[in-house]
Amino acid sequence: MPDEIFRSPKKHGRVMVMLSGRGSNFMAIHDAILDKRIDAEIALVVSNKAEAPGLAAARDRGLATMALSAKEIPDRSAYDRKIIAEAESRGIDLICLAGYMRVLTPEFCLAYQNRALNIHPALLPSFPGLHVQQKAIDWGVRYSGCTVHFVAADVDMGPIVLQAVVPVLQDDSEDSLAARILVEEHRIYPEAVRLFFEGRLEVRGRRVFII
Ligand code: GRF
Repeated sequence: MPDEIFRSPKKHGRVMVMLSGRGSNFMAIHDAILDKRIDAEIALVVSNKAEAPGLAAARDRGLATMALSAKEIPDRSAYDRKIIAEAESRGIDLICLAGYMRVLTPEFCLAYQNRALNIHPALLPSFPGLHVQQKAIDWGVRYSGCTVHFVAADVDMGPIVLQAVVPVLQDDSEDSLAARILVEEHRIYPEAVRLFFEGRLEVRGRRVFII
């Protein structure tokens, strides 16, 4: 059977952000919303880390937040179901993973298939996983970058929406390369969310067409 074609909705979107750390991608998306570059609102920011700086930033920005520690709900499926229930009750159209350091259950990925995005600091499918800036340096690749992709149960392997390329310099450290990539992350993640709510992303199998 051919894969179904999915077209993102053209609407004022309700976004849920999930993060575990500093939250700079969350802020880039929120800034783009505040600047009216994206027709959406952030209805909830969720973190598995109560002390995440990104969660504090969300509170400072007057957004609704929720911290849910894995200790409260050790069962992974139950944990994810709680978040799905929260998203459903708030009418979330799109989930943006922004440095969320937990692997989502397959049930979660299925429930939000084509409705959840992630940003990854490498040119997927090269260098999935963690510490990927160091891996790019160790491999001696000349270029790396970042990828916004739809979330799929196969971690870091969902359909690719946007990518940006940066050079890897001979004297790069993990931090210097990460900083160069981050500038591009802050550019393409809001851009992908904008395209989503302009109804311009069409997913056909593992390819995403920008209409
Ligand atoms: C970014 O490098 C992102 O690509 C990766 O996690 C990091 C999150 O950074 N998924 P921030 O919390 O958005 O500043």
